[in-house]
Amino acid sequence: MTDTQPVRSSVAKAVIPAAGLGTRFLPATKAMPKEMLPIVDKPAIQYVVEEAASAGLSDVLIITGRNKSNISNHFDSVPELEYALERKGDEGKLAKVRESSNLAEVHLLRQGKPAGLGHAVACARRHVGDESFAVLLGDDLIDDRDPLLDRMIAEHDARGATVIALMEVPQESIHLYGCAAVEPTDDPDVVRVTGLVEKPSAEEAPSNLAVIGRYVLRPEIFDILDDLEPGRGGEIQLTDALNQLAEGKGDGPVYGVVFRGRRYDTGDRADWIKANVLLGVDHDELGEEISDWIIDFAEQLRARRSDG
Ligand code: G1P
Repeated sequence: MTDTQPVRSSVAKAVIPAAGLGTRFLPATKAMPKEMLPIVDKPAIQYVVEEAASAGLSDVLIITGRNKSNISNHFDSVPELEYALERKGDEGKLAKVRESSNLAEVHLLRQGKPAGLGHAVACARRHVGDESFAVLLGDDLIDDRDPLLDRMIAEHDARGATVIALMEVPQESIHLYGCAAVEPTDDPDVVRVTGLVEKPSAEEAPSNLAVIGRYVLRPEIFDILDDLEPGRGGEIQLTDALNQLAEGKGDGPVYGVVFRGRRYDTGDRADWIKANVLLGVDHDELGEEISDWIIDFAEQLRARRSDG
């Protein structure tokens, strides 16, 4: 390698757990995984695979549960549809159909039983091997205008450490997340994680820093996950495995990158609607129409409120 060539990161694989039951979004998720709900015109999981691919992770393993065929079909090519569009000469739609099958080398693995996020990650062991890898939760959408994963991979490479993503949340929401106890570093965007607790009450929470769905993990996590007892909800919790590392029981520290950008929890109904609006107003083809309509509708809503 010459000095002018970019240094390749040691992280090349992404794991996307997408086996959750999606109970917050019933009945829409009765027969369809929540990760397949569309945001504007693409299923949520496509944004997540795009994020992995644009961070240089071209090998993507999706861990699925029931209803897996929807997800695998989306990342496969569809010759009959492509043929029909080719015959019509509809290059635009053809490109959209092909986009998801050309994003990355997508592999699928079935979790077998819904035993928790830690168990889903443990299922990736054989595929990942003895390398560091990224985990991207399939229903957490990070706006691509606010990069996060690149920064996390850079911190992992520079520090040789496990890196998680953290975000400040209001105290009344912390019970929905893993929560980190932290110490500052000399970088305002990076903290050293000294402990983690899964979904604490507001009183028990060590901070207002929530774990959001991006992790850059070292392969040592697999041994820890294998020995882990079920935690909160009777599930194998990734947070508990990371807590062991943070408390010094493994090899190397845990750092957190504090994210201050836009994140949407697409498994939550209100957040899903907001994500559609926020990405809809910036959409190439639909943005202007949607923006005009929203401005108009907001005026109607305001009038309705002042009448009421
Ligand atoms: C999972 C993790 C939790 C994390 C959250 C982020 O919880 O267990 O630590 O804060 O994702 O979205 P879930 O939302 O799957 O219950």
